[in-house]
Amino acid sequence: MLALGGSVMSKSIAICGAGPGLGQAVARRYATDGYEVVLVARRQEPLEQFARELTGVGAIAHVVAADLSDPDGIPALADQVRASVGDLDALYYGPTPGGTRRPATDGLLSPSELTPQDVQAFMPLALYSLVALAGQFLPAMVERGEGAILAAGGASAVQGMPPFAAPGPALAAQRNYLQSLGSELADTGVYVGRLYIAAPIKGSAWHTRMQADTTTDRPAQAQRPAADPVDLAELLWTMHHTTKHPETLYPQPAPAR
Ligand SMILES: NC(=O)c1ccc[n+]([C@@H]2O[C@H](COP(=O)([O-])OP(=O)(O)OC[C@H]3O[C@@H](n4cnc5c(N)ncnc54)[C@H](OP(=O)(O)O)[C@@H]3O)[C@@H](O)[C@H]2O)c1
Repeated sequence: MLALGGSVMSKSIAICGAGPGLGQAVARRYATDGYEVVLVARRQEPLEQFARELTGVGAIAHVVAADLSDPDGIPALADQVRASVGDLDALYYGPTPGGTRRPATDGLLSPSELTPQDVQAFMPLALYSLVALAGQFLPAMVERGEGAILAAGGASAVQGMPPFAAPGPALAAQRNYLQSLGSELADTGVYVGRLYIAAPIKGSAWHTRMQADTTTDRPAQAQRPAADPVDLAELLWTMHHTTKHPETLYPQPAPAR
């Protein structure tokens, strides 16, 4: 049962990538403190089901089905979000990168087998649509002097990892964009936060698939202790509301000896 904040003027967050792992956990965390949530992903039915779960515990949830790999569709998506909650207080961006043109690899391609098309395939979802969303929602945040852009992604954004060579460059480009955006907005009251996760996320589709895979050639990253999405959502909440750290890597690397 969520203990809702119940403020008179509720704040709002769009969860871009509202899946069963981190996206839903972030939605629950923000709803717990009274945020109205807009759930965004491609498949309508899982979104509707999750929205029913949230409304069942007193939260206000809206659903917008959209493909975030289509930057040209972002203005229409933004209109739907604004029609639901007005200008956003926070935007969470964590859609799972998928849909390589070589699905048999489960998105796992090593650097030596990459083609330019493999790299390019991840750019719209990782970067272009996020840039377009920021263009839609940042001006009102800056005008108000508060707001947040929150991104979550794999640690291949920070450190090249051979199995994730296809999404890695696009995620690194996203990180570079967010770094400069955060620096530009430092004195505006708008927070830009990045959470990079070097562990499987419990309950996510990827973790579920990797658990079912009994072959020995699973990537080493899939065999690390899984992260609880509730802990990750709390971490993102704390970054946003308390520490204001621009970037966190989870788990924290062990100190050098
Ligand atoms: N899962 C892991 O083990 C893991 C590990 C490290 C880092 N990460 C990163 O952490 C973040 C959260 O991952 P998660 O696995 O926990 O994800 P999640 O929050 O469970 O789900 C994300 C959702 O994104 C949606 N999505 C994917 N492509 C989309 C598109 N083109 N347009 C709109 N929505 C789209 C999918 O729903 P639809 O299919 O309905 O669109 C999916 O359910 C991601 O950035 C991920 O890369 C994940």
